[in-house]
Amino acid sequence: MTDTVFVSGELPGDALEVLRESFEVVTGAGVGSPEFAAAAPRVRGIVAMLTDRIDDALLATAPNLAVVANVAVGVDNIDLAACAARNVLVTNTPDVLTEATADLAFGLLIGAARRIAEGDRVIRAGGWTGWTPGFMLGPRVFGMKLGLVGFGRIGKAVARRARGFGMHVGYTQRNREVEPLERVLGATYVSSLDELCATSDAVSIHCPLTPATRHLFDAKQLAKMRPGSVLVNVSRGAIIDEAALADALEHGPLAAAGLDVFEDEPNVHPRLLARPNAVLTPHIGSADRPTREAMASTAAANVVSVLEGKPALTPVR
Ligand code: GLV
Ligand code: GLV
Repeated sequence: MTDTVFVSGELPGDALEVLRESFEVVTGAGVGSPEFAAAAPRVRGIVAMLTDRIDDALLATAPNLAVVANVAVGVDNIDLAACAARNVLVTNTPDVLTEATADLAFGLLIGAARRIAEGDRVIRAGGWTGWTPGFMLGPRVFGMKLGLVGFGRIGKAVARRARGFGMHVGYTQRNREVEPLERVLGATYVSSLDELCATSDAVSIHCPLTPATRHLFDAKQLAKMRPGSVLVNVSRGAIIDEAALADALEHGPLAAAGLDVFEDEPNVHPRLLARPNAVLTPHIGSADRPTREAMASTAAANVVSVLEGKPALTPVR
């Protein structure tokens, strides 16, 4: 009997064809769709989007489920304990999106500091009346002190880019990296987030969303950042308290923020929408074409492997 796989959203590239070679593929717009509900009793695999909430109630509707392949590296949309309890394997898409996400983090950093999106809006609104020396000044990017919150694959990829901009890179995470790696990446361990915030001209967030990192950047933490500094987030929106961030952008200490992720996507806090010094992008960190195709094919390959009784390629532990 052919296994049934539910594909929860559009897959760039040929991943859908790959799945169709081996399985009955049912597509629908999310696990809340009628297509999923109809197929759930027989579904063996789900190719899930980060917008899908995979919780115990959902798992209960799919008693034959063996694997959830998230088309994302972050898995905060999935109840991992509930999956483990029901023997459902979870996979993600690490590695393939590292460089694309680091590229966007760097773009947001420069865009926010140097007011690129704001300048574009000024021109289009007819607000540029001529060159003057004091117009649209911002912090200096080259040589700045960059603080990385989280030093996994993506954080390290940002550190590599920072070298070309003469930056001094500090990072904080639970465990310090080995010294030779720090040397190669030109990064210095900072033992606390408070110290990182107090000593960095820009802070970029590269940690997963967990109960411990939810609202890690609240009003208290934001107040510890340097006056005139920049905050970048390409990880998950809920790591920042958006109302507190709007305050910090309006009254200081922040000069600007570059944000690709939001607490309640696709909704953005109205006070952030109103801040000219916030550069906003619609969760496109991994959205270069080869990366999205690689994410889709990684998810598909995980489903194929698990349903053929082989180990997952990129299991979440
Ligand atoms: C995107 O946000 C991802 O986690 O891959
Ligand atoms: C993501 O894969 C990370 O380790 O930063």
